[in-house]
Amino acid sequence: MWTYLNGEFILKDEVRISPFDRGFLFGDSVYEVIPSYNNKLFLFHEHLERLKNSLSVTNIPVPDSINNLNLLIEELIKKNKFSNQAIYIQISRGVDPIRSHVAYSTTLPTVFMVSSELDINPYRANPQKKGLELSLEQDIRWKRCDVKATTLLPNIIPFHGGEKSNVDELLFHDGQKVNEGSKSNVFFVFEDMIVTPPKEQNILLGVTRNYFLNRLSEEGFNVTEKEVKVEDLSKADEIWLTSSTKEIQPVYKIDNIVLPEKEYKDCYWYKALKIFEEDLKSYS
Ligand code: PDD
Repeated sequence: MWTYLNGEFILKDEVRISPFDRGFLFGDSVYEVIPSYNNKLFLFHEHLERLKNSLSVTNIPVPDSINNLNLLIEELIKKNKFSNQAIYIQISRGVDPIRSHVAYSTTLPTVFMVSSELDINPYRANPQKKGLELSLEQDIRWKRCDVKATTLLPNIIPFHGGEKSNVDELLFHDGQKVNEGSKSNVFFVFEDMIVTPPKEQNILLGVTRNYFLNRLSEEGFNVTEKEVKVEDLSKADEIWLTSSTKEIQPVYKIDNIVLPEKEYKDCYWYKALKIFEEDLKSYS
């Protein structure tokens, strides 16, 4: 498997970064995950814009490679051969001579990329597959979750030890409102209304979230960005998660709340999945 580091393509087993990289020492870095289908990047422009926003908010200098990032990624995709891939891009503030909270003025950002095979969404092959199991979790993350930062301890601790280790995903809430998953956005269906938390809440504006919001609205579904309270979870007819690697996947259970059983063909998540699959045909 090939990776990219600061201008060079390097085999995975040979790639190295310094422990003085600020990404390692401080979590001083941002990232993106972009899917590709049949060697073509999906919604690249949207991911690039979000990456630029993450760099801008954190004041990490914009590396020159951002100007031809699509060409570099295409090269990586070719080298790693899988027809569908998940491309991981991380940009840190770079390697300082010694650990220092304030970066040296000469420090240049580190750009690292790797791609792996994109697992096919299991609900495409089998829409009758049991939905995901989620666990509610108090959202203790920082207040700038719109920035795709690599500093993800609150997102990963619950998966390591304790009774939540085996759940498929966490569902973060602030005590009242539901925000999002640890690595995905959330959608709800109440009767014929599709709802997702608004950008004013502390969430990452998922590229996949925005895609489904737009496409479902274009196709005439009732879609809205609105807050959903924890106590409303038990009233939902459907709950789904979206992300660049999950695409769209239904939820079966959140802690002790079991979602109503419905024929998959009548479900909104399945209709949304069909729209997505139709759009993907132009990638074949
Ligand atoms: N996670 N919310 C959070 C906290 C996320 O980490 C992600 C993505 C999303 C969905 O965003 P998008 O649709 O742009 O992928 C929402 C990626 C896939 C990850 O961390 O691996």
